[in-house]
Parts: sequence; structure tokens; C-alpha cells
Amino acid sequence: MTQGIDLTDRVAVVTAGASGLGAYAAISLARYGADVVIGDIDAEAAAKTVAEVEALGRRALFVETNALLTDQLESLVEQAAKAFGRVDILVNNAGGVSKRNFMDSIEKSWRKHIDMNLVSMLAATYAAVKVMREGKRGGVIINVSSVEGTRGAPGFAVYAACKAGMINFTSSMAAELADDGIRVLALAPDMVRTPGITRFGAETPETAAARERYIPLRRMGDAEEYGGLVAFLCSDMASYLTGIHLRVDGGALAATGFQRSKDTGSWELLHP
Ligand SMILES: NC(=O)c1ccc[n+]([C@@H]2O[C@H](COP(=O)([O-])OP(=O)(O)OC[C@H]3O[C@@H](n4cnc5c(N)ncnc54)[C@H](O)[C@@H]3O)[C@@H](O)[C@H]2O)c1
Repeated sequence: MTQGIDLTDRVAVVTAGASGLGAYAAISLARYGADVVIGDIDAEAAAKTVAEVEALGRRALFVETNALLTDQLESLVEQAAKAFGRVDILVNNAGGVSKRNFMDSIEKSWRKHIDMNLVSMLAATYAAVKVMREGKRGGVIINVSSVEGTRGAPGFAVYAACKAGMINFTSSMAAELADDGIRVLALAPDMVRTPGITRFGAETPETAAARERYIPLRRMGDAEEYGGLVAFLCSDMASYLTGIHLRVDGGALAATGFQRSKDTGSWELLHP
């Protein structure tokens, strides 16, 4: 029986891995033994993540990659395989959102959301599975969706539709790739602290208090909690998991429609 998380000698490719959740994944995978290839547009942030991976004694490579361009994602995977000889793990982390009601949005924005969140996953998966199949050692693909992929998200409709698509694609691929020994999983975070999250507004005592009321675990997730989960899912400890999505939300979606009372702290229906 497999004991512990050991990713020694495995090679991971992380899209948009220079900062935020991608960097948390990259650093955690390295902590458990993996070499890491980061594709991102931000060379400066990537240099810091590369340095952190190398400080852990693992190899790291940055490949400048615009996740809106499928040929650059294909090249990212090819360069990873060329540099480190294999690809065992792909984290489809690239994604992004801007807030606007659907009827106020334009086609250019729909297409950008779809390219960034959905097409980037398709292109990187296509390229990585080819390399994984050639290597005949199986692999793991983690698709970074969102809680918005499992509920309506007013103001974020196209993003949410893409994130739902990521979860559905995860199920199909789990079946199509099972005989290759490739496991496919999705993560659905709500609030894990990253530059992307804080861009929606600075943390104030009021926002922290509001968060305490709707998240059962009372707070945002952090880098270690998120990274540890990614490493576990990529390890042989999780060898019987495929085709599922895991909410990384401190219980927020489990308590949907309820929040803690400001007065008593007990759970109450939002609209009794
Ligand atoms: N942080 C959360 O709690 C949360 C919640 C739900 C979903 N997500 C998903 O997690 C993923 C990462 O989110 P985050 O919060 O870490 O974001 P972030 O904004 O903090 O980091 C995004 C990274 O993407 C890179 N990037 C931006 N545009 C790019 C492009 N065109 N090509 C390549 N790289 C590009 C940035 O340089 C940065 O390194 C996204 O798919 C997001 O939808 C995050």
C-alpha cells in the first residue's frame, strides 16, 4: 500500500503558474519531489516561483506562455518534455474573469473568457496526453474550475459556464483516458487567498466578518492548504480517484442559502 505523498522524478506542467493558485500548486508539487515547468505571461513573478522551486532542490523551467494562444500551450508542453524528458502532471490552472452582467457584455469578452478558461484547458490537455501516452507511465491532470462551475453566478455568467464545462470535461476525460493510466480531476475553489481574489477588493474587517458568516470554516483558504491538496491528488495516495471535482471552499457551498446570524452566531436561512 502506498504510504505518503512522493512525487520524486515526476514532471509537472502548470499553466499560469507564476503566481496565485498556480504558484501554490507548483511549489507544493516541488516540495513533494516533482520538477516543475511553469507557463505564464509574467516573467518577473515566474522567476520568483522558479527560485522557490529550485530552493527546494527540484528543477524548474519557465516558458513564456500566453494561455490565450493554443500554439503557445502546445509549445509549453513540448518544451517541458524536451527539457525534463517526460510529463506526468498537468495543472490546467489558467483562467480569469471580469464582472459584468451578461446583457452588458460583448462577444469579444465572451470569446476571451472561453479562450482563457476553456480552450486553454483543451489545448494543454491535448498536448500533454500525447506526451503522457508516449511515456506509457500514465499521468494526472488537474483542472482548476471554481465553485461558480456548480451554481449560477450573476455578473460572471460566461466564466461560470466555462468552469461548468471544465467539470464536465473532467468527467469525460476520466473515462476516455482511464486505460492510459491517466487520472483526471477538477478542483472547485471558492476563496483561496491570491492576487486574483484580492483584486476584487481589499480585505477589511467588514469583509472578513461577512466571510465568517457564510463560510463554515470562517476564513479563506491559504497556499499550504491548496498546494497540499494538489500534491495529494497528483500522488499515488489518490490512485483510485478520477473523474471527480472537489470543492475547496471551507464548506461554503455546503451551507448555501444559510449564514450565521450577526446576533447569535447560529445558522439562519438567508431569506426565511
Ligand atoms: N483564488 C481563488 O480562490 C479561485 C477561486 C475560483 C477559481 N479560481 C481559479 O484558479 C485559477 C487561478 O486563479 P488565481 O486566483 O490564482 O489568479 P491570479 O490572478 O492570482 O493569478 C493568475 C496567474 O495567471 C497569469 N496569467 C494572466 N493572464 C495570463 C495569460 N493570458 N496567459 C498565461 N498566464 C496568464 C498571471 O500572470 C498570474 O500568474 C483561475 O483559473 C481561477 O479561475 C481561483
